[in-house]
Amino acid sequence: MNDLLLSAATRAARYLDDVQSRRVRPTPDAIRALDRFIEPLPQLPTDPHQVLSLLDELGSPATVAMAGPRFFGFVIGGALPAALAANFLATAWDQNAGLFAATPISTVLEEVALVWLTDVLGLPSGAGGAFVTGGTMANFTALAAARHSVLAQAGWDVERDGLFGAPPIQVVIGDEAHPSVRKSLGMLGLGRERVTVVPADHQGRMRADLFPELTGPAIVCIQAGNVNTGAFDPAPEIIARAHAAGAWVHVDGAFGLWAGAAPPLSHLAEGLSAADSWATDAHKWLNVPYDSGLAFVRDPEILRAAMSISAPYLTEGSHREPSHYTPELSRRARGVDIWAALKSIGREGLAEMIERDCRCARRFAASLTAAGYEVLNDVVLNQVLVSFGTPEATTRVIEAIQAEGTSWCGPTLWQGRTAMRISICSWRTTESDVDRSVAAILAAAAAAA
Ligand SMILES: Cc1ncc(COP(=O)(O)O)c(C=O)c1O
Repeated sequence: MNDLLLSAATRAARYLDDVQSRRVRPTPDAIRALDRFIEPLPQLPTDPHQVLSLLDELGSPATVAMAGPRFFGFVIGGALPAALAANFLATAWDQNAGLFAATPISTVLEEVALVWLTDVLGLPSGAGGAFVTGGTMANFTALAAARHSVLAQAGWDVERDGLFGAPPIQVVIGDEAHPSVRKSLGMLGLGRERVTVVPADHQGRMRADLFPELTGPAIVCIQAGNVNTGAFDPAPEIIARAHAAGAWVHVDGAFGLWAGAAPPLSHLAEGLSAADSWATDAHKWLNVPYDSGLAFVRDPEILRAAMSISAPYLTEGSHREPSHYTPELSRRARGVDIWAALKSIGREGLAEMIERDCRCARRFAASLTAAGYEVLNDVVLNQVLVSFGTPEATTRVIEAIQAEGTSWCGPTLWQGRTAMRISICSWRTTESDVDRSVAAILAAAAAAA
């Protein structure tokens, strides 16, 4: 076992060295070579060293270099060294993080991480939290708490009786809400389409002047950080109006919530702490390995009411039992990586990383604008939308950039316009990565013109 694990660590270190300079998108040859994985289930065992070597030799070249400094697709963080190393060790521990009795260490680290996270994100101290797979499940978990609360206030126990015959809930979302919000509403029986949609402005922000009248049980979902523009809904105004009507306010802040951790950007997060629940991703701007999302609920008892599980064999101790707060019973010890990330970079390191990524986004926007290309959004955070002219020209440039391999940017459709998205979310990205990428983008744009 020792040799095998050392070999895995050596291969991982070599991969991470290489990932800084290799092309971001794998070569067509590397993708074709994946055919060698396709075989019937082996009848006989294979030596574990051989299994690992196959994985590294065929698998590593076929990865997209998301762990490197010049992957700018979707909203993808890297993995901080301490978080990655802690993840290795915690994987070796193989703890089932559902119960204190099963894993004291991961339960305690989650408790500590929860206090640190609410502190650094500017959320109410004492808020409840759930360590889930990602932003989608964080939205789901927080909205389950919201559903519990608004129905309990109407005298209905949704966990016991379900939604059959329950009082209707009015759900309000912005026109540019992330699709994971609608998906979560669908999974919760609240309906993907049975929502009141508030129009958004040209940056994707909910129009507070068009906010509807609320009557009866209501949940309002606002957004901190639009996946295309990075824009924030006007939280103070909307939360005040929703609360005046007795509604629950949920914030989808998959990456934008982290603005609260960086003083020069924290004005963007102003007012968010007055909400009732929040969803964010640790695998985005905290740069922990996949998968890692976080749901926070102001009143931990409400989160617990929505998520708790009990059975005689599930022993209860004096500690917070994690499985009372998450959809899953058995799961990996996500709090370990989160604790390690925060412990290793501290408040200042986190703020520096977030600020640097946003500085890099502004640098991209300035360079591309200076070169004559149109930036479609106000670059308030880490997202940049660029047009290279016609939809066809923009699509050709994106394909050329990905094929050339210095960096990777993806496409989007922003309010009817085809655009290239640049999203910077990694601890590794520096200004020199931006300059190198801009040079490659300009060359690709010139060639594709
Ligand atoms: C605003 C927003 N919400 C939710 C999500 C979903 O997060 P995940 O992919 O971690 O489920 C994303 C992903 O980019 C996002 O940007």
